[in-house]
Amino acid sequence: MYLGIDFGTSFSQMATLYLDQPLLLLHPGEYGIPSEFYYDRDCGVLVGQDASDAGQGLCAANLVSEVKMNLSGSYTLDGRKFAAQDIIREIYRTLVTRAQQIARTKSIDENIRGVVISVPAKFDYLERKLIYDAAVSCMEGMKLPVRDIIKEPVAAALAYYNTSLENGKNILVYDLGGGTCDVALVHSDDTKLERFEVIDSSMIRIGGRNWDEKLEEYLAAEIQKKADIIVKGNPGYEEKVRRAAINAKHQLSDNTRDKVFARIEINGRIISVMVTRRLFEELTQDLLMQTISCLEDVFYRNYAKHKIDEIICVGGSSNMLQVPAKIRESFPECNVRIFEPEHAVVNGTAIYADMLGETTSPGTVLQDISNFSYGVQAYKDYHKDPNYLVIFNLLRKGEELPVVGYKSLSPISNTQHVIGFQIFESEYGDAYYPADVTDKRLIGRLDITLSPDSTIYTKINCKMSLNSAGLLEFSAEDDKGNHCEQTFHVSPL
Ligand SMILES: Nc1ncnc2c1ncn2[C@@H]1O[C@H](COP(=O)(O)OP(=O)(O)OP(=O)(O)O)[C@@H](O)[C@H]1O
Ligand SMILES: [Mg+2]
Repeated sequence: MYLGIDFGTSFSQMATLYLDQPLLLLHPGEYGIPSEFYYDRDCGVLVGQDASDAGQGLCAANLVSEVKMNLSGSYTLDGRKFAAQDIIREIYRTLVTRAQQIARTKSIDENIRGVVISVPAKFDYLERKLIYDAAVSCMEGMKLPVRDIIKEPVAAALAYYNTSLENGKNILVYDLGGGTCDVALVHSDDTKLERFEVIDSSMIRIGGRNWDEKLEEYLAAEIQKKADIIVKGNPGYEEKVRRAAINAKHQLSDNTRDKVFARIEINGRIISVMVTRRLFEELTQDLLMQTISCLEDVFYRNYAKHKIDEIICVGGSSNMLQVPAKIRESFPECNVRIFEPEHAVVNGTAIYADMLGETTSPGTVLQDISNFSYGVQAYKDYHKDPNYLVIFNLLRKGEELPVVGYKSLSPISNTQHVIGFQIFESEYGDAYYPADVTDKRLIGRLDITLSPDSTIYTKINCKMSLNSAGLLEFSAEDDKGNHCEQTFHVSPL
């Protein structure tokens, strides 16, 4: 089978294509595997629901939730240190093993011939790479090929097209998950080899967890008022309030109820707090509006060139009633649909994994674009002004992937053996911009070793490419055709 994995902030899911339809590799009725990790000396490492169950009360201090939103983090659990990447690797391992077990029970070929993973639409280079490397290092150990990465809302679009393929349509996907709100504008044309084209995509780091936080703050204040108990600072209480807030939020998505009671047990006492939908919506109005403005940005910057036929709402948080209501109000001329909010992303990831199979090269069925520009920091003209550094963008935001850029550079002295560049990621679309602008990210350093007879007149032709998975590759040769060794040191996140 070909496996699609959606590693989510709150829940992760696995699916495959079976008899041409996406099939979730979860137990019946299971939403997903909680993306949670737990460690203590007695239980060892636990992932998923086991982690969630173990991490209650004071043991909450050994529980890691929402690691996807803190990829640079490291965690000390019961005296042992874990980097985010170790945790993600363990989560992937659990997901693959679980998918194989479930496939076996459904008599599906459990032999995995290719895996595709999904990532948020606008994670930056280092975040994508960290997730990709964690998946690859986990799968290598299991001898499974990771075939490609797909942006989450793009995967959801593929799942949508799979059910109602209407050619020539442009659909705008709004994916409100646990940690991010991802948006993508996708076009499908089945007369073309590159059947799916990503016209634009964007993201903001707002998701269900932020709705939870607002409600948690409210509940904590009410608990203090009612029982004179301070929640903040006590991991056990905080965890109980978090669970109660999520539960109340989910209950409010039932349109037959306009109020619910959050019940929190502290030291044997049950504290009950009423939450009306109106109050919940007021507390979180600002979050919703930020996601709507992310959607509006993509809508209006493409509207003149691309008629947008439908807005598709996916992601677990699209179940909140105010979400589709606000989108309908903001885009009265559009058809707004909720489409398999919980599973569209993983289903689309599985569809894409199946399309790629073992041999189709990534990029042939799906045309994606780069979300950022990538450039090298170098002298504008060293001999004219040795202090004027700029960033030359070799690859520009919005270009179709895979994309290749070139830059020719020369050593600044006849004795220079290595040219070292810093590589930056930015939103700038210009060919070059001053090096001192702050709105850019250092993602690594490229060192090019020169041949010994190089002089200041030698031209080094550098090639930088971004492959269809959005990962950088480099090569360099001098004007005599000598290949120059190069090493790319990725910056830590
Ligand atoms: N019925 C519901 N009502 C309200 N919120 C819900 C409901 N069902 C799920 N959610 C919320 O949806 C979020 C999880 O959605 P989803 O599984 O799409 O996110 P994710 O994939 O884990 O996160 P991300 O895509 O941001 O990394 C959680 O915040 C969860 O509380
Ligand atoms: Mg998701």
